[in-house]
Amino acid sequence: MCDEYYPSPVCFNEGCMNAITNHITFEFHAAFKYLYMGAVFGQYIKERPGVAKFFLEAATEERGHGIQMMDYLNMRGFEYNENFRFSKDDLWKINGNHVTDTSDLVSLKIREALQEAVNMEIDVTEKILQVVAKCADDYHAADVFTNPILEEQYTGLRKLQGAIRTYDALIKGNSGNEELAEFIFDKKVLKGEIL
Ligand SMILES: [Fe+2]
Repeated sequence: MCDEYYPSPVCFNEGCMNAITNHITFEFHAAFKYLYMGAVFGQYIKERPGVAKFFLEAATEERGHGIQMMDYLNMRGFEYNENFRFSKDDLWKINGNHVTDTSDLVSLKIREALQEAVNMEIDVTEKILQVVAKCADDYHAADVFTNPILEEQYTGLRKLQGAIRTYDALIKGNSGNEELAEFIFDKKVLKGEIL
C-alpha cells in the first residue's frame, strides 16, 4: 500500500505487514509464559534462582522482540491497531493444570520447564518461517525476519537443547539423585556456565 508519503519504491506489502502484526501476539505470549515460569522457580518452595533468572531474562527478551517488531512496522509506515488478547489458560501447564499448588511446585522438575521452552520456541520458529514466506515480495522485511530474528531462534533453541542434555547427564552422573542434580544445574545456570 502506497500513499503520497510512501511512494511505490519504498512502500510496504500489506500481506507481509499483517503477518508481522499477527506475529507480535506470539512474542508477547512467549514473554508471559517465561515470566510465569520464572515466577514459579523463584518461589521459596522451589528456590532455583539460576533458572528463575534465566526465565525472567527470557521474558524480557521476548517482550523486546515484540517491541522490535512494532518499531519495524512503524519504520515502514504501517498503521496497526491490533488488540492483543491473552488468557491465563495459555500459560504453562503440567498435566493440564496450571502450576500454583504447593504440592505441584514441590514435584516440579526443571526439565519439564526446559522442554516446554523448547516446544514453544519450535512453534514460534515455525510461525516466523511463515512470516518470511508471506514477506517474499518485501525483501527488507524478509531479511529482518531471517536475520537477526530467525538466527536468534536457532541459537536459542540450540542452547535450550544443550541445557537439557547437560541436565540429563547430571542426573545420570549423580546416580539418579534428581534433587542434587537440579541444585548443581541451577548453580551452573546462575554462574552462566549453562544457557
Ligand atoms: Fe522471540
